[in-house]
Amino acid sequence: MKLGFFASGSGSNFEAVARRCQSGELGAGAAVVICNVPDAGVFERAKELGVAAYLVRRDDFAEGPAFAARLLEILREHGVELILMAGYLRKLPGALLRAYPYRVLNIHPALLPSFGGKGLYGRRVHEAVLEAGCRVTGVTVHLADDKYDHGPIVLQRAVEVREGDTPESLAARVLEVEHQIYGDAVRLFVQNRVRVEHGRVHILA
Ligand code: GRF
Repeated sequence: MKLGFFASGSGSNFEAVARRCQSGELGAGAAVVICNVPDAGVFERAKELGVAAYLVRRDDFAEGPAFAARLLEILREHGVELILMAGYLRKLPGALLRAYPYRVLNIHPALLPSFGGKGLYGRRVHEAVLEAGCRVTGVTVHLADDKYDHGPIVLQRAVEVREGDTPESLAARVLEVEHQIYGDAVRLFVQNRVRVEHGRVHILA
């Protein structure tokens, strides 16, 4: 199964999944990365792993439909079957979501539906978790829809909040789990074990 990644930043989730692909563990291949930030770290990682990477910015297109068409063109050229948003800080165009129904995943560094939504990304998520005094946080992989950090949940894993945690220490432990769980979610799709009914995911045995 060919994977397409959307990223805006460092791309460590892209790298973690791509490495598991290249080891043959997932039955999937990292086909392409699309990024909207010129100097994002993900470009370097893609180069190192030999994965094609494209810079595509919404602002380079006068019209939304032309932007969506370019994204779809790249995905189709690379035969992408499953899309992974990996730290992509924009919503994907509706036309793209419609072209890949229940085939667009997002990863979020908290247990949704808590601590998600517009503006809650990166350090701010962990700050909010600590501010609320939570004892547990975690990672969510979900199918993306037209709202930020929203859509049927595929996998979640909990991470304990420790006494004395800072946003940075918590982020680091959460990120380790992200790197595991995203590939695990991909494997469920490769095995054709994911069904969506009434907005909820069922994982077949
Ligand atoms: C991760 O924490 C991910 O959950 C969130 O954005 C961050 C991206 O990190 N959506 P990276 O670019 O994959 O290193």
